[in-house]
Amino acid sequence: MTQYQKAGEAAAALQERLGMQPEIGIILGSGLGGIAGQIAERREIPYGELPHFACSTAPGHKGQFVAGEWSGKRVICMQGRLHFYEGHPLTDVVFPVRVMRRLGVGTLIVTNAAGGVNLEYAAGDLMLISDHINLMGKNPLAGPNEPEFGPRFCDMSYTYTPALRELAKSVADELGIPLREGVYLGCSGPSYETPAEIRAFRMLGADAVGMSTVPEAIAASHCGMRLLAFSLITNMAAGVLDQPLTEEEVLETGERRGKDLERLLAQVVERL
Ligand code: HPA
Repeated sequence: MTQYQKAGEAAAALQERLGMQPEIGIILGSGLGGIAGQIAERREIPYGELPHFACSTAPGHKGQFVAGEWSGKRVICMQGRLHFYEGHPLTDVVFPVRVMRRLGVGTLIVTNAAGGVNLEYAAGDLMLISDHINLMGKNPLAGPNEPEFGPRFCDMSYTYTPALRELAKSVADELGIPLREGVYLGCSGPSYETPAEIRAFRMLGADAVGMSTVPEAIAASHCGMRLLAFSLITNMAAGVLDQPLTEEEVLETGERRGKDLERLLAQVVERL
């Protein structure tokens, strides 16, 4: 069975449970799950209850779809995502994105926790992703192409939809929320990067580094979704400060600064 067929079956099962058709998909990163609690007429569907899904295991990640109404729109959130470092093939990592697409979702908003590579950044900053660098060593589109999703050679020139980025910047301005804009570099993890890697990434043009988002962005681009993505800089990347990186810091900053990102997303979604 092709990924297109599997995603179709999962979307049909999801559709039956939802009783509505969401228009916007949101992937909630580490510590950013708060939005899920604000959704009205909420339906929660654990990934494990849908056909063809691998389950999520990362700390701070639940592993379910939460759908309903938020900011005047019909949304479906992924509370918890699959990561490459958990050992999942990238086709599994991007499967929920493809399911959302088959459900009729045309706009995807992705959030993540990331390390600050740009020396002007500080922990707690929010960054709009303008582009990415894929250093995961893998691509979710490798293997036979499924033309029902998109072309063999997928254009990545406008992956992070320019019009949506403009909208996000003007909303951030109006709300008085400082918003950086920069390049996200995706690594496989699960070890954090070394200081030497971070110095190299800075020379390559990266502003932030993390272990997600890149596969999802590629799959979203491939199947023709509009995409908007944000990094919450939870820590400065390895070697920037004279201190080790800890998962506690990442989760703590996520909780402390997640509220501003939620306010920003609420207004952006309202105006989509
Ligand atoms: N590196 C990679 N992934 C991350 C980081 C980091 O410093 N912080 C949060 N996710």
